[in-house]
Amino acid sequence: MERTYIKDLKNHIGEEVSISGWVDVRRDHGKLIFIDLRDVTGKVQMVALPNHADAHAAASQVRSEWVISVKGMVNKRPDRMVKEGLNGDLEIEITQVSILNQAVTPPIDVTSDGREIGEDARLRYRYLDLRRARLQENIKLRHQIISLIRNKLSSEGFLEIETPILTKSTPEGARDYVVPSRLYQGKFYALPQSPQQYKQLLMVSGFEKYFQIARCFRDEDTRGDRQPEFTQMDMEMSFVTQEDVMRVNEELLVQIVKTLFPEKKIQELPFPRITYKESMEKYGTDRPDIRKDKNDPDLLAFCWVVDFPFFEKTDEGGWTFTHNPFSMPQPEHENWLMNKEHIGDIITTQYDVALNGFEIGGGSIRNHRPEGLKTVFEIMGFKEERIQENFGHMLEALSFGAPPHGGMAWGLDRLVTLLTNEPNIREVIAFPKTGEARDLMMEAPSTLEEKQLKELHIKI
Ligand code: AMO
Repeated sequence: MERTYIKDLKNHIGEEVSISGWVDVRRDHGKLIFIDLRDVTGKVQMVALPNHADAHAAASQVRSEWVISVKGMVNKRPDRMVKEGLNGDLEIEITQVSILNQAVTPPIDVTSDGREIGEDARLRYRYLDLRRARLQENIKLRHQIISLIRNKLSSEGFLEIETPILTKSTPEGARDYVVPSRLYQGKFYALPQSPQQYKQLLMVSGFEKYFQIARCFRDEDTRGDRQPEFTQMDMEMSFVTQEDVMRVNEELLVQIVKTLFPEKKIQELPFPRITYKESMEKYGTDRPDIRKDKNDPDLLAFCWVVDFPFFEKTDEGGWTFTHNPFSMPQPEHENWLMNKEHIGDIITTQYDVALNGFEIGGGSIRNHRPEGLKTVFEIMGFKEERIQENFGHMLEALSFGAPPHGGMAWGLDRLVTLLTNEPNIREVIAFPKTGEARDLMMEAPSTLEEKQLKELHIKI
């Protein structure tokens, strides 16, 4: 008999069906044994009665989290027994039970929302933790958000293009994760902090509209809204202005909310804009929380933050970029950049989007002429040799007819966290690292065998 998914049982009232899944709970009342069965689509209550003797005997054996397949009749519940929610109006009368696999007693309860369980235990047994309804829902919503992004951007002519994970250091302001090379002794790959350089190179190649659901790696101190590896919705477009990029991104964010979170309200449309200066003066931060009612869990207060300074002073008294060295200054400040004057006053084309006090994305129009990009590095005090070594490929690429271009990246995990009202991003990532950057399930990071270290020319 073909398997029926639990969500579809309502279409089979009065019929015999076959369903499969995990035993959520079992309540043994002697003659009546109730089992709640769970599959990827939902839950249903089943009952084994003594008149189906074999099924009743099997039902008395099964325990929580065993995997079973059941044949049974889909019965309507009497009116007074109807409950709220999926399958609240029906019940399966079990006629046959097949035990597909047993389970030892789970170390953590997977039937609750899990908030009462210590996080170390949850992450040590993440594959079980993910069985709970709350996390199943978060991971499904994450998928739906990603698939909406893919559909919408594809329909607008964007191409999703994968960029390398084994690459060279990109300056995004954090430390790199590095991978030793076996073939080239003493040399290292770096994992990308973002696809920034590659996406710009794709603009040089003429793709014009790129996006990627991109994994990024940053060796920085982990917080509730940060992970060592995280996912960006990364995009780049050619022949666009700041306004164009902001419009495309704003439309996409609004569409995600309206389609997938209809219960939520966006405080203000179009998203209000605030300059960096105003934001710092009024809110003391560059990711302001402008919600009118901070107790309303359904309120989403997006805002753009613009007009950031390009450079800031380093502790050593030199200059460094505030956001992105590849950005273009505002047109009226291009001369200042090229003449290396009023450096602290140069405003960049950077635009960030904040949501309820979190920075969920940022982008800019890029410096598409090599002289401009080179000047940025010179202002940062880089010598010619270092510029060539680190960024020679970018300067060279820009010299072959790079179109004007710009783009943006969102922290996808952060966005999903806020949309699902979760307290931290680990709740919306299938296999996150702990706050101390460890994977407790795989036990990573871990030591290597002597042989492997030797091959990699590494001495500890
Ligand atoms: P930026 O460094 O601002 O820009 O990153 C873009 C967005 O990524 C999210 N983010 C993170 N999320 C989780 N964990 C982290 N460790 C983490 N770090 C950043 C934030 C942030 O707004 N290449 C540029 C984008 C561009 O200019 O197109 C970039 O990476 O939500």
